[in-house]
Amino acid sequence: MTGPWWREAVTYEVYVRSFADSDGDGLGDLPGLRSRLPYLAGLGVDAVWVTPFYPSPDHDAGYDVTEHRAVDPRLGTLADVDGLIGDAHRLGLRVLVDLVLNHVSSEHQWFVSARAAGPGSAERARFHVRPGLGPGRAEPPTNWPSIFGGSAWAPFGDGDWYLHLFDTEQPDLRHEHPDVAADALATIRFWLDRGVDGVRFDAAGSLSKDPGYPDLPEGWRPGDPAPYSDRNEVHEIYRRWARELASYPGDRLGVAETWGGPEVLAPYLRPDELGQAFAMDPLYWPLRAQLWRDGVDALLAATGRHGRLPAWVHGSHDVRRAADRWGPHGARAVLLMMLALPGAVYLYAGDELGLPEVTLADEAIRDPVFRRSGGAERGRDGARVPLPWTGESVPYGFGPTGSTPWLPQPTDWGEVSVARQRDDPGSALALTRAALALRGEWWRDRPAELTWRDAPAECLAFRRGHRGPTCLVNLGDVPVDWRPYGRRLLLASMPKVEEKLPARSAAWLA
Ligand code: GLC
Ligand code: MG
Repeated sequence: MTGPWWREAVTYEVYVRSFADSDGDGLGDLPGLRSRLPYLAGLGVDAVWVTPFYPSPDHDAGYDVTEHRAVDPRLGTLADVDGLIGDAHRLGLRVLVDLVLNHVSSEHQWFVSARAAGPGSAERARFHVRPGLGPGRAEPPTNWPSIFGGSAWAPFGDGDWYLHLFDTEQPDLRHEHPDVAADALATIRFWLDRGVDGVRFDAAGSLSKDPGYPDLPEGWRPGDPAPYSDRNEVHEIYRRWARELASYPGDRLGVAETWGGPEVLAPYLRPDELGQAFAMDPLYWPLRAQLWRDGVDALLAATGRHGRLPAWVHGSHDVRRAADRWGPHGARAVLLMMLALPGAVYLYAGDELGLPEVTLADEAIRDPVFRRSGGAERGRDGARVPLPWTGESVPYGFGPTGSTPWLPQPTDWGEVSVARQRDDPGSALALTRAALALRGEWWRDRPAELTWRDAPAECLAFRRGHRGPTCLVNLGDVPVDWRPYGRRLLLASMPKVEEKLPARSAAWLA
């Protein structure tokens, strides 16, 4: 292996609440996750990213934290975290925690006292608080929208308004405040001291806001530059935190949850900043060959400028299931493509099973996006339905028999369970396991430069460097002969491939 362990690691995102429920309360928990670590080691991933398990009133499924250095009693104890880290390390798995430092829960002690203390108080200075506009200060201070819908400002009821880029129950912190800065550092240290191998920084680009709080220009659209996204000041914060990470032994990873193109990601990857920044754009790329080729080149160039590699995101708890975004076959093809590209890969729990996006009934939806958008957006719960492990009826081994998962599972999920796929060589699970097993030998740690080979229309063919295996991706509608690209078919994303690679599939050839 060249460079730090994470440079080309495959990390599996465990959405804790939906992974495995040990006590039957319907919520996945840390002992549940711990019991399934052998499954993850067997799958062949290098690391596990564990979504927030800190005390939370769950307005945003744990991303609204009341205490950053404690464990939600519904999900386990600190001893469970220690046990989890220990077991993971014994199995050769690294552990990343997810730190939500941009905001707190509205039930966090700081916000409870800010609300009580009134305008002009020191307590309110830890948050972004501004007087409202207009008569009675009844209008929000700026036109900033919440990422979850509606205004990003909520009234205290006394003329002051507070900023919440996400839900009303997630007030944004002011990282310029010494208490906030000190507390964030204490949190980072706390989890590093417990032995985690890295930290995912939630909502990474949002940590600093333009102190002038300017309105967004007319015609502004989500994704355009904003006075609260990816500002220069945010990088000073990550440099400070990077020094902290670097002061621990063992190449601890800092990965930024970034949402932006190559030029947004690149500054996070400067040598004295973070090791990885999520490449989320590909999540939304349609399966068109030229678009992927240009996009891949741009990400490699931007990250390469700092000697880094992209962190390809195949799926997450914030977007629709891969099988839905790219189609079931497309998702498998993209998996083989991402695993062959230079860089790290993030896989989302359940995508190794090819799970579909679930359409939930209105009453079942918990995601605040649904409510805040007035129902216009279904939100993200369709990708968060608890995993099916075994059996033919709810909860399919997610929890003890008779327990009711926090989001309802479809009645036919016995057909896609881990147990059902385990011995089926054509399953998504078998493909993922095979790909991860072969990746180390054929792709990992090869040259970071890609060589694109000539390919038929709507196909991509590339090597790492000038020799070695070729990854051939057929995004078109007609089968293509793979034999010009290699003598041997190492792996194909579809079962039973002979000399032609079917439409919407990928193959590794040597
Ligand atoms: C990140 C999380 C998302 C959460 C948001 C607010 O984007 O991935 O799930 O809702 O931050 O914390
Ligand atoms: Mg539980």
